[in-house]
Amino acid sequence: MERLHITGGVPLRGTLAVQGSKNAVLPILAAAAAIPGRFALSNCPSIRDVDVTLALLKGLGVRWTRRGGCLELDSREAPGSAPDPALAGQLRASVLLLGALLARLGRAEIPLPGGCVLGARPLDLHLRALEELGVRVQCEAGRLFCRGRPRGGSVLLRYPSVGATENLMLAALGAAGPVRVLGAAREPEIRDLADFLTACGARLRGAGSSCVEISPAPLHGAVHRILPDRMEAATWLCAGAATGGCLTLTGLRPGHLEPVLALLEQAGCRVQRGANALRLTAGPLRSPGSVVTGPYPGFPTDAQAPMMAALLRAEGCTLFRETVFEGRYRHVPALRAMGAQIETAGSLARVRGVKALRGAAVRATDLRGAAAMVIAALAARGESAITEARHLDRGYGDFVRRLRCLGALVEAEGG
Ligand code: UD1
Repeated sequence: MERLHITGGVPLRGTLAVQGSKNAVLPILAAAAAIPGRFALSNCPSIRDVDVTLALLKGLGVRWTRRGGCLELDSREAPGSAPDPALAGQLRASVLLLGALLARLGRAEIPLPGGCVLGARPLDLHLRALEELGVRVQCEAGRLFCRGRPRGGSVLLRYPSVGATENLMLAALGAAGPVRVLGAAREPEIRDLADFLTACGARLRGAGSSCVEISPAPLHGAVHRILPDRMEAATWLCAGAATGGCLTLTGLRPGHLEPVLALLEQAGCRVQRGANALRLTAGPLRSPGSVVTGPYPGFPTDAQAPMMAALLRAEGCTLFRETVFEGRYRHVPALRAMGAQIETAGSLARVRGVKALRGAAVRATDLRGAAAMVIAALAARGESAITEARHLDRGYGDFVRRLRCLGALVEAEGG
């Protein structure tokens, strides 16, 4: 999808079933390379990051077949240790193959990973912790060469990095003794990885808390259903709020979205929570005061740009503080082109609510930034054109059809 044309001003209405989580399925696919066995995964999202990860796995010798949201994998043959650099360069999560291949083979050769450009995204936490566990790490000409299976022991992450926690959990599957990760990330996607690994026979405790412990155990294939995508759900909710719409989302876990829901309620939306569903009814919006991103259970950085787009017409001023990534305001110039009043200074952004937005021609910069541009375009008067809309394909399956189901006037060009 290269270009989107959106005619704004239509309140979104209707019901959507939330897709499986991008950030849960990617580490689980890496785990399938770590463990010899056959796996059946359901609720897999149909998104480009999954396609690229599957192509990487295929290159390593893991076989798979896919029917709709169901994926069957067979990794009984030992995989290669060097993933394709061109593919790995396309997504940040390719770094998780490091832990997976170390566990399986005791060696890995990983090109430095890609993904959205969100300021500096170093790997120091991953690599220092692996070195503390006895893995030899060398970086040469844009590639990481790692040797040796981890020995047991405790490592402390100075920041609860999601990727570092997942990489250590994966590497620990092949460790000589129990590995304890202190200062671990607590995101629901870590719990989903732990549930998958437990189904594979892993002895694992504490996932979802800041201390995760993995002990050696025989591992095998498993059946698993991928967690619903809280970031896709947050995007639809923000789109519903921005357009004054009324949406029902099904097949999700409302508890995982609490910081997003609380803000939408403070902004004047009505949210009804069910066991696995949510209903949002939006009216005139007011500023909720401030939005501060942070590691789970804080407000998710991935929902910052969509929430900003939702609040562009909210009465009053909203102060955003981005604490997770530098450079996560790349969507702001496009929102300004649509008439938004936003000032930024370092990690801060101040949004002054305007009466109306106008359609504009803008260029998408990253996955969630592109979602913010779509939300603003849906709320604006007139037509917008969003180029480089392919960023959306990384994380949103069947995006245009799903938007149309909610009544949006949207056309896509370029696949
Ligand atoms: C994951 C998610 C991403 C989400 C992010 C934060 C996936 C595939 N991606 O990314 O959507 O926005 O969590 O919730 O799950 N850091 C270091 N050194 C490191 C590692 C990280 O300084 O070795 C820093 C990063 O630069 C960033 C912060 O820690 O500022 C958070 O990064 P991390 O939690 O690792 O995010 P990812 O796993 O890359």
